[in-house]
Amino acid sequence: MLKWFKGFFVALVVAVLSTSTAFTSEKLDQESLVRTEMAVLHNALKTTIDALVLNDPGKIHPAFDEVHSISERLDLEIRNGGKIALPKNQKRFKEFVRLDHKFHHDLEALLTAANKNNASAVLRQTHRLLDACVRCHTIFRN
Ligand code: HEC
Repeated sequence: MLKWFKGFFVALVVAVLSTSTAFTSEKLDQESLVRTEMAVLHNALKTTIDALVLNDPGKIHPAFDEVHSISERLDLEIRNGGKIALPKNQKRFKEFVRLDHKFHHDLEALLTAANKNNASAVLRQTHRLLDACVRCHTIFRN
């Protein structure tokens, strides 16, 4: 009797877990795309600051390789009409997209400056990007 009960309980837990995963997996996919981009962005910015402080601009461009491939996926998702869940101000989604595009535009300018070994432009663009991180988070992140 006890064995039967245990078996039933395990089956119930498995059933509940599998339905809840199926229910949220699509949502998680999109949410984790933003978070994944943010995680690699975070690392790339730290590398940029180190490269800037230690005058090693060659380190900057490769640090953003992963950011590019993830942001392309995110862009495609948005262009295909996929809704990206934002923690705050979901209604201002268009503004999020605009800030994101501006951010990537400034990022390209950073990479160009780094490739040209233009230290003052690297410094200016790094400041711009840092401002953009904070600005977007203030609106869209909890
Ligand atoms: C266009 C908007 C936008 C810009 C620009 C932006 N972020 Fe974010 N970031 C977000 C949003 C939205 C979240 C919250 C994601 C969530 O919790 O679903 C976030 C979350 C994060 C997180 C936390 C991730 C987690 O797992 O909770 C980090 C770290 C981060 N961003 C780093 C950065 C850095 C560094 C920059 C600048 C170099 C930056 N972000 C620029 C929108 C942005």
